[in-house]
Amino acid sequence: MQDLAGKTAVVTGAASGMGLAFAETFADEGMNVVMADVEAGPLQIEADRLAETADVLALTVDVSSLEAVHDMFDATVDRFGAAHVLCNNAGVGGGGPVAECSVDMWEWVLGVDLWGVIYGCKTFLPHMLAQNEGHIINTASVAGQLCFTNMAPYNVAKFGVVALSETIAEETTGTDVGVSCLCPGFVATKIADSARNLPEDIAVKIPERSEEEEVIREAVLEAFSTQKPPAEVAELVINAIRDNQFWIFTDQVFQGRMAERHDGIIAGTDRPILGELWNIFSESTTG
Ligand SMILES: NC(=O)c1ccc[n+]([C@@H]2O[C@H](COP(=O)([O-])OP(=O)(O)OC[C@H]3O[C@@H](n4cnc5c(N)ncnc54)[C@H](O)[C@@H]3O)[C@@H](O)[C@H]2O)c1
Repeated sequence: MQDLAGKTAVVTGAASGMGLAFAETFADEGMNVVMADVEAGPLQIEADRLAETADVLALTVDVSSLEAVHDMFDATVDRFGAAHVLCNNAGVGGGGPVAECSVDMWEWVLGVDLWGVIYGCKTFLPHMLAQNEGHIINTASVAGQLCFTNMAPYNVAKFGVVALSETIAEETTGTDVGVSCLCPGFVATKIADSARNLPEDIAVKIPERSEEEEVIREAVLEAFSTQKPPAEVAELVINAIRDNQFWIFTDQVFQGRMAERHDGIIAGTDRPILGELWNIFSESTTG
């Protein structure tokens, strides 16, 4: 899809981080923008700001509800007549080790990070196929390529998003509907503060860490804010829409481990032990 001006983009998780950067970039391109998020307050503030230069519709949506995603689709078509770009971006970090993670936690993370993406694709893809024009960007993660310790639901959800995206790529071959799978590494957003999005009724068991581990983690959280700016990822996304490019990686930190994993699969031998994501982050920031 080359001409974006005048077309309509729908972005979930648009109140913060990468989703907000996508919405800003689409607005700069002259697109109509539907900004959807579960956090109504921050969403309205950002939507009002973007509405000064673009046609914006702000919708409070919980993507883990099929009904809410259907309503988002209906509101988009009512307002703008069609949807051309869908960013299934809303997501939460969370989880814990498999042996300890509560079922509530599994359901919350899978509900937002996997079912939210499935509902988005299921609802918007038939419309895009019928008009034979559209592009879906599904946000997975490097955790959709590599499994880290202590984040089981997140790993499972993001591997699911990769599988869903690859399947859509197969099934849309020969049409003018494209799909991209975004696998960010470390991007400076509020993802490490996903607990703010936790529904009140969910029992959470935070994994126990030693004092030393906790100090490292705190430092890492602080260093997170110095990572890749979301606006740079938005540029990669725009290019992927224009070039119909499937994979979008934001950095090279994980490529070696991905190659090791694939070598192990092909040889049918073993997999690399990765530990916690924070350790890799620490390594990458300290060189
Ligand atoms: N930041 C990173 O380094 C990184 C790395 C890999 C993948 N990701 C993925 O990128 C995506 C965007 O996250 P981000 O990093 O910008 O974090 P963020 O926390 O800044 O933004 C996430 C947005 O999703 C919204 N959200 C949460 N639950 C929702 C729900 N049920 N329905 C609708 N909206 C909901 C939040 O309110 C927030 O505005 C997520 O899918 C995340 O898993 C981020």
